[in-house]
Amino acid sequence: MKIGNHEYRTIWPDPDQPAAVCIIDQRQLPHRFVIERLTDVEAARIAIKDMHVRGAGLIGATAGFGMYLASVHASAGRFDQEMAEAGGRLRDSRPTARNLGWAVDRVLGAMGQRQTPEEKREEAFRTACAIADEDADFCRRIGRHGLSLIAEISRKKKGRPVNILTHCNAGWLAFVDFGSATAPIYAARDAGIPLHVWVDETRPWNQGSRLTAWELQQENIPNTLITDNAGGHLMQRGEVDLVIVGTDRTTCSGDVANKIGTYLKALAARDNNIPFYVALPSSTFDWSLENGGDIPIEERSGEEITALTGMTIGGRMETVSLAAPGTKAANYSFDVTPARLVTGLITERGIVAAEKEAIRQMFPGCY
Ligand code: MRU
Repeated sequence: MKIGNHEYRTIWPDPDQPAAVCIIDQRQLPHRFVIERLTDVEAARIAIKDMHVRGAGLIGATAGFGMYLASVHASAGRFDQEMAEAGGRLRDSRPTARNLGWAVDRVLGAMGQRQTPEEKREEAFRTACAIADEDADFCRRIGRHGLSLIAEISRKKKGRPVNILTHCNAGWLAFVDFGSATAPIYAARDAGIPLHVWVDETRPWNQGSRLTAWELQQENIPNTLITDNAGGHLMQRGEVDLVIVGTDRTTCSGDVANKIGTYLKALAARDNNIPFYVALPSSTFDWSLENGGDIPIEERSGEEITALTGMTIGGRMETVSLAAPGTKAANYSFDVTPARLVTGLITERGIVAAEKEAIRQMFPGCY
């Protein structure tokens, strides 16, 4: 997607250095655009854990390349053991994002088909690139399917702008390209459909204000930043036509884990008869889990709530305290929206009801 007039993906192999991978350090956005180079698996693990990269798809792609970087440094004598250990460390770095374990397993599985460390290394690189390419392609297809929903609403509104509310950042910064929740928005813009996006700021990490609003600005999509608590009010006033969010892990029966606060949006949408859709590539389904209550929910440091980092008017990055010293804070990163509140899931294969049998029919063989 575009930054200025330049097309970027969120992760790519460094063209100048064979055993290195480039990412955009998302902690610095929207104030600074900084490209970071990862050269070993520990750097990839830290990038995931400390949110230099974040969002389900991008976490998966970074884990894939992280495994490749591990293979570059693994010793020939203990190759398989060191790769398994690297996979374990990556897997533990963010517990809710399904794509993380999925990508690690995919690279390990592909390497298992090869004999020598050299062959395995090449396979790790190929697989990591395939994960990234597939992620971008699946998001593009999600856009095509989601476009039909927006087009339908636009017809009913006789061309008046379609108001879409989104929570957190399930944009291209959360994937390799296009995004999940934003892909239908980009597709609708390309189709000439007038639209406007309500962007939840998404406390405490502010993925909405720092990333989604910025991303939409880069693409010239009209958008308005709102506080996390404003959505219900706007829905009551008829100013939201559609909610589209992403997900970090979705069970085989359609229960959806997404950024904390998503559940409240789904409740408000149901109360106001507003369609609530979740966009996801199939790599985010956890086929082994049926019950959303079993999804591991990441708890992050309370400091993300009690302090805030931003740029001063003078252009300096500074951290300020928002609470009295010693304030105890609990920082639950995700919540679970039960399938019954989800109007449908927008996947790369099409739109499906959030219901076990329907999902099984769309993805046979995945169980
Ligand atoms: O904590 P994050 O930023 O990694 O959380 C991910 C998210 O941005 C959201 O939960 C998103 O809607 C799902 S990821 C596509």
